[in-house]
Amino acid sequence: MSRAQVSKRDWRVHPPYLHEAYTSTVRRSPRLPLVPLEPSLSELTGPAFGADAVHPDDADLTRIPGGTGEAIGQRIYVTGRVLEDEGRPVANALVEVWQANAAGRYFHKVDCHDAPLDPNFTGGGRCLTDARGEYRFTTIHPGAYPWTNHPNAWRPAHIHFSLFGSAFISRLVTQMYFPGDPLLPLDPVLGGVPEPGRPLLVARYDHEVTEPLKALGYRFDIVLRGRNQTPMEPR
Ligand SMILES: [Fe+2]
Repeated sequence: MSRAQVSKRDWRVHPPYLHEAYTSTVRRSPRLPLVPLEPSLSELTGPAFGADAVHPDDADLTRIPGGTGEAIGQRIYVTGRVLEDEGRPVANALVEVWQANAAGRYFHKVDCHDAPLDPNFTGGGRCLTDARGEYRFTTIHPGAYPWTNHPNAWRPAHIHFSLFGSAFISRLVTQMYFPGDPLLPLDPVLGGVPEPGRPLLVARYDHEVTEPLKALGYRFDIVLRGRNQTPMEPR
């Protein structure tokens, strides 16, 4: 088997499998040591997504096909660059996002939070990075939502991100948070990320991205590998 030439992840920047404050990790974390596998060519050349399946409208979450209008909420742009080792941009990476609506409710059958659904918002979007590794979404600011992890638990506003580079081995799933959110220090999901990596998951307000009379702008760069790689969400 040929060995693929890829840099190894620094697992110290990523959350441990077991973070007791995030109670579901107690049951799902592995009990035995993991068996390391060397990446092979199949991880680099294996099947990937079809780029032609991504439509430009998929990056605008504020409107859905067949909808009756625009999603309710604070309109925002979320943009940034996807980078590999040493700051090299990753072009044609698939960036997928999903999020709650402005009231903190997911368009999903198991979300039973007592908050309204928005008929014009499903909360899912995707796009490809351009030659500079840049992606851009138009969406609404998600609401915080309660969960049952501990008494009076509320997730801070966040957007889920899935990154898919040129191959399976460039996969990263994480969450983006908003600056200044008072719930950030109370969140056991973000708290599961080693402390130095937490700021890397908080977007930056960018007045250059903000568009007059239209939307606030946030910047969130994602590094797939290397010294400054973006932490994954707790697994
Ligand atoms: Fe979430």
